[in-house]
Amino acid sequence: MHEPPSTAWQDSDNALRYDAFTRRFPHVYGGPARHLVDLAGLSPDARVVDLACGTGVLTAELLRRVPGVRVVGVDASDPMLALARQHVGAHADAVTWRRAAGETLDAALDRPVDAVLCNAAVWYMPMPELFAAVKRVLRPGGVFVFNLPRAYVSGVFPAEAGDDRPSLALRMLATAILDHDYVPTPRPTATRPVHVDALRQMLSAARLELTRQAVCDVAGDPASHEAWMRIPVFTEPILPPFDYATRMRILEAALSGFVPQTRRAQWAAFVCRA
Ligand SMILES: C[S@@+](CC[C@H](N)C(=O)[O-])C[C@H]1O[C@@H](n2cnc3c(N)ncnc32)[C@H](O)[C@@H]1O
Repeated sequence: MHEPPSTAWQDSDNALRYDAFTRRFPHVYGGPARHLVDLAGLSPDARVVDLACGTGVLTAELLRRVPGVRVVGVDASDPMLALARQHVGAHADAVTWRRAAGETLDAALDRPVDAVLCNAAVWYMPMPELFAAVKRVLRPGGVFVFNLPRAYVSGVFPAEAGDDRPSLALRMLATAILDHDYVPTPRPTATRPVHVDALRQMLSAARLELTRQAVCDVAGDPASHEAWMRIPVFTEPILPPFDYATRMRILEAALSGFVPQTRRAQWAAFVCRA
């Protein structure tokens, strides 16, 4: 159930917009990142991989919270890594950066680590290959902690009375169909959500034991939702044939008369042992 690789993560403008977003709305990615660090129970001086580290949201949390931590920030995108590197400042000696795909993570490391943490990203990678690579880099007893948004996992969250109003993404799709003659084609993604039992089986096949799952709530607000939609990589999968400028015109039209939903975002976090 992974997204087809998006070239947008390789784009400098996308990286700058993502980075600006995480600074303006630190709770959106910082909240789930903090939750992963809470769950990992890291000892001082732990050696930790921040997998798909992006611009370094989770790395910053590790440096703030874990005395003597050594971080290896791994990401497939050079522009994201370049920004992450700029943000560590005085902690530069505690972090090394590697450009690598998560599913070939082991090729980027020279020795085992105590933990691999992955915030808001596992679905971009083929999970069986990713889990096998994580297992190869963890020391025996090491911990792997990652999260998935509510919509991407089933069997964790109880059903919730829904908000029937169309989401902003759905309004963008409707606008593209009505105003731009867009004919959506089915996306070649594998099925999602993934059921937690299937996730456990995939982990177990990689000899990782799922020991705990926990939910993290992040307050939702219209301003951050709209700003998130302006990060190129997030509207590309909704409206693949349109360039960024057109997608933003469609967003403006979809926002007209839109009554924002203020539901919280929810993440399911998973703790696994090697
Ligand atoms: C939503 S961002 C999350 C970034 C960061 N973990 C955070 O909390 O802000 C997803 C990240 O996954 C990275 N990514 C996508 N596919 C990847 C892959 N196959 N291997 C490693 N990183 C990947 C992207 O470059 C991007 O930095």
